[in-house]
Amino acid sequence: MEFDEGELRAYYDDAPDDICLSDIDLTNIPRHVSMIMDGNGRWATERGLARHEGHIAGVDSLREAVTSSVRLGFDVLSAYAFSTENWKRPQQEVDLLMHLFATTLLKELPLFYQENVRLRFLGDITALPEKTREVFEEGLEKTAAHTGMVFALAVNYGSRAELARAARLVAQDVEAGRLKADEVDEDEIEKRLYTSGLPDPELLVRTSGELRLSNYLLWQLAYTEFYVTSKHWPDFSRWDMLRAIRAYQGRDRRFGGVVAS
Ligand code: FPP
Repeated sequence: MEFDEGELRAYYDDAPDDICLSDIDLTNIPRHVSMIMDGNGRWATERGLARHEGHIAGVDSLREAVTSSVRLGFDVLSAYAFSTENWKRPQQEVDLLMHLFATTLLKELPLFYQENVRLRFLGDITALPEKTREVFEEGLEKTAAHTGMVFALAVNYGSRAELARAARLVAQDVEAGRLKADEVDEDEIEKRLYTSGLPDPELLVRTSGELRLSNYLLWQLAYTEFYVTSKHWPDFSRWDMLRAIRAYQGRDRRFGGVVAS
């Protein structure tokens, strides 16, 4: 996607010692970057704060990630906000997160207008508390005509549930005679994923140091480069996004092929 280089230089003006915009090849920016935003709880605990303070601080990082991604010209930014397994957290924390998702989305709608960002959700949002679902549906409706970056938020998302759903949808189409069993190929599965129509992520960023996928985009991450930082999500900044892209640009992506000579 097109970006404004002057605006980008101004945005990345005040560089720390180890990274600056000139370290990045602006002709090789990933189209889709995905993020596992981990470590809000640890960030809060390390500061003697309640866990929810970490989630609240995480909103600021997410806003900055959206803004920097638009500046850098990503087509898609996706982020894992709440998994199908996160319902097992204490009810108070689940309630807080659902409330935070709704209030943040409403508050940030002007940013989505200003940046021409189109919202999308990955996961079963019909199972969310009514207020949260209503706000999400409003966000979808109000940003549907936007033509800039897609911001895809994974909420009540689990990759195995997503693949089981795709299999179910395929089976229903076969049963109804809309599809033949021997026509079922990768494209037919892809069409029935929550990410349908989006490019696969070229880069996955995970904060807080864990080296696992946590049931996130198992299909879509088949050839994705990983960037793991020990920083907790609330400390992730526009500079960390640049560090992640620099790491990505240093990788040799072969997609199962041979090393280029
Ligand atoms: C992981 O930290 C984070 C979450 C489960 C929630 C993600 C939510 C945000 C970043 C808040 C803002 C998001 C929106 C969409 C408004 P953790 O609680 O698992 O941290 P821990 O591993 O240190 O306990």
